[in-house]
Amino acid sequence: MRRGSLVQLILLGVVAAAITGAVAVLVPWLPTPAGKEADRIEFVYWFTTAIAVGVFAVVAAVLTYSVWKFRVRPDDDSDGPPVHGHTNLEIVWTAIPAILVTAISVVSAIVLAQNSRAGDNPLRVKVTAQQFAWQFTYPDGKTYGHLTLEKGRRAQLDITAKDVLHSFWVPELYQKQDAVVGQHNKIVVTPTRIGTFPVICTELCGLGHSIMRSRVEVLSKADYEKWAASGGQAGGRTPPGLAAFSQNCSSCHTFSAASSSGTIGPDLDKLKEYAATAKQPLEPFIRESILDPNKYIAPGFASGVMPSFKDQLSAKDVDALVKFLAGHAK
Ligand code: CUA
Repeated sequence: MRRGSLVQLILLGVVAAAITGAVAVLVPWLPTPAGKEADRIEFVYWFTTAIAVGVFAVVAAVLTYSVWKFRVRPDDDSDGPPVHGHTNLEIVWTAIPAILVTAISVVSAIVLAQNSRAGDNPLRVKVTAQQFAWQFTYPDGKTYGHLTLEKGRRAQLDITAKDVLHSFWVPELYQKQDAVVGQHNKIVVTPTRIGTFPVICTELCGLGHSIMRSRVEVLSKADYEKWAASGGQAGGRTPPGLAAFSQNCSSCHTFSAASSSGTIGPDLDKLKEYAATAKQPLEPFIRESILDPNKYIAPGFASGVMPSFKDQLSAKDVDALVKFLAGHAK
């Protein structure tokens, strides 16, 4: 091969690598990781992407060069020379992909093994999926409609389902895990950023699949301890009524203050309108609707659909819920 051709080939490869590299790096394909495990998974992604960009650059360079240099002349009707294989070339193009694929599997296996290490004292949270809500049960037996984690502390999530297949996913924590009836699938997460991130169901599980969402709140150590000691009432940035709402109401009702979009029951953003139609003051109306929902049925909705929460919620939760709903009603 002439030196000039080699330089041209390399130049083509560099251009192809630069273009695909830019597409990989400049487009924000992935959410910013919020956990140690997510950092490792992101590393696997970049490791694989670097290999893919390299392979693409070589293939694109050879292909472009061949099309450009060996293009058939308009008046050339002759056949190309017969080629009967090239043993060395075949060994090379088999060996290189085999080595690359093996490297990817080794790196992935190491990351998977590291990510499944729960350590000595992880925070153990049971995650239960059910059409169409998430429940998170803590070692003290308390259950919440959203997940609260401590920054820097490993948490082991024990994921199961009550009815059909669901799948637990927090984009910022990267790893997905199926929720299966009768199985307890575990993932370990170690949050590295304080903040609120979405929990999403990623397995089509029925009509409410798209609204089967919750959130993870990652708190500082001090805030987390305050939150845990107060049984979920303090420390977090979640007002107490919002916690009760997310756990009990959000799958059926729309309420923008809680970012919920359920449509089975009345739109609670219109609470003031409903109270006016029922000719009742707002707060007593909300309280009655929670404890004795069939006493007044909003126009267009059926009686007997909403259960009474009289025995489901503590008096404290009902108070918090009424306050939260009245305070954010439009
Ligand atoms: Cu649960 Cu989709």
